[in-house]
Amino acid sequence: MCQCDSVAKASRTPDSLAEAGKLFLKHTTFHGLRHVFLSGSYPRRLAWLLAFLTAVALLFTWSSNRVRYLLSSPVHTKAHMVYAKRLVFPAVTICNQNLLIPRRMKKPDIFSAGRWLGLLGRNWQVSPGARDVLTPGTDHDSSSSNEPPWSPLSRILDFNHFLPPPLESQPSMLQLLDRLGHQMEEMLLYCRFQGEVCGPRNFSTIFTRYGKCYTFNSGQDNRPLLVTMKGGMGNGLELMLDIQQDEYLPVWGETDETSFEAGIKVQIHTQDEPPFIDQLGFGVAPGFQTFVSCQEQRLTYLPPPWGDCKSTPMDSDFFSSYSLTACRIDCETRYLVENCNCRMVHMPGDAPYCTPEQYKECADPALDFLVERDNDYCVCETPCNMTRFGKEMSFVKIPSKASAKYLAKKYNKTEQYIADNILVLDIFFEALNYETIEQTKAYEFAGLLGDIGGQMGLFIGASILTILELFDYLYEVKLSHYNSHDENLGLKCSVYIFVQCSLPI
Ligand SMILES: *[C@@H]1O[C@H](CO)[C@@H](O)[C@H](O)[C@H]1NC(C)=O
Ligand SMILES: *[C@@H]1O[C@H](CO)[C@@H](O)[C@H](O)[C@H]1NC(C)=O
Ligand SMILES: *[C@@H]1O[C@H](CO)[C@@H](O)[C@H](O)[C@H]1NC(C)=O
Repeated sequence: MCQCDSVAKASRTPDSLAEAGKLFLKHTTFHGLRHVFLSGSYPRRLAWLLAFLTAVALLFTWSSNRVRYLLSSPVHTKAHMVYAKRLVFPAVTICNQNLLIPRRMKKPDIFSAGRWLGLLGRNWQVSPGARDVLTPGTDHDSSSSNEPPWSPLSRILDFNHFLPPPLESQPSMLQLLDRLGHQMEEMLLYCRFQGEVCGPRNFSTIFTRYGKCYTFNSGQDNRPLLVTMKGGMGNGLELMLDIQQDEYLPVWGETDETSFEAGIKVQIHTQDEPPFIDQLGFGVAPGFQTFVSCQEQRLTYLPPPWGDCKSTPMDSDFFSSYSLTACRIDCETRYLVENCNCRMVHMPGDAPYCTPEQYKECADPALDFLVERDNDYCVCETPCNMTRFGKEMSFVKIPSKASAKYLAKKYNKTEQYIADNILVLDIFFEALNYETIEQTKAYEFAGLLGDIGGQMGLFIGASILTILELFDYLYEVKLSHYNSHDENLGLKCSVYIFVQCSLPI
């Protein structure tokens, strides 16, 4: 059969079609067709036809099922525990709940920030709420000899003969918070990282909605990142802090900046991610030693259509790497600059800082509205890579009855002060491993081909080459139909012979 002239001759005669058809059926790997068309009694051929059609129908249902599965973009989630020789210690950001220390305020500070803090009302008159709190002796419990620490405030609240400084020399919000916030030098009583002494210099200053905060191991200012080689408590960070409750801003009303709590807020995050401590931080109370045992988790999600993470790079002027918090801060900054023409101290960029007046009138209400009620403006997608820290916390009381006296003596404070103000924070890795949780594609095109190929083999005994045969046959039919292009026949014929004769029969 592997001869070209028979084909060539056949294609010129009217019954060449039937000839070619026969030749095709005889050699095709569509096994069923041969039984249907070439031999046997009619009932037998009918049975073969039925079987062939059923097999084809089954093939199509199963294959379409597989195609639909592929189009639904299925995913698997894989979790692994990976042992690491060394892990980069996370950045730890710490904020005192209190925004600023009123005792340090001078007259110009109060003049510019008083209304924002609810201390002053119209025409720079002390507001009634503040007057009650600041007037000594109205409290029944406080002995008059024990002056409250903010009572110096009341002496500088008279603005009758005060000449306001020119606008440009009034302290900016950043300067106010920087100077009046809690200073690390005063708060930090003890700091150890893996047994090595650390001090206020190992913290970098960062501003958040809580004012002046401090980050340990921020990686900023070209400081090398600290790594841990071992898990467990002795290999982490241990801090003892004095939260300076006596210096807290007295509460005389309920403004945005009032806080009824005492303690610090802490966030454990990666160095790539800015802190977002007012939303994501956890609280640590004075009077307790808090143990935080961390486990690093690295999450990998897939972009659409498999998952819904954000795969495009960050289009922000302020941050280079995308994270949920970077996106939120970026968006809030844009919102404030749009609405108030200024930015808050914790926001990046080069817009001017809001004045205390702008904080009160515009920035605080706008940001609260955005955080609490507007769900459409800041929509941040999950990043495709994310590192988070799982935390387990436990507490013991500090100081114990036995140690109260010793600590009081050591730090030259009263025992009551120690009980009200001291906290110890331990942050360490549970073990030197991290968990990866990864979304992977469950089914891809290669899998689909394999499945369809398998079903073609199972149901109709066909393969890719069978389909090639079919095309080859159709080509021949077309050729003999036009019955003219003899010069094409040579090429066509050689393809035909190649396909037919190179197949093992
Ligand atoms: C703290 O900073 C000092 C000086 O910058 C450095 O020598 C020391 O190693 C740091 N300590 C820790 C625990 O990082
Ligand atoms: C995400 O993580 C994978 C694996 O750890 C890494 O190859 C890839 O570069 C990371 N992508 C980004 C944007 O960080
Ligand atoms: C202890 O504190 C008191 C007042 O707080 C101060 O007068 C005294 O000098 C301090 N003593 C030492 C040793 O620092």
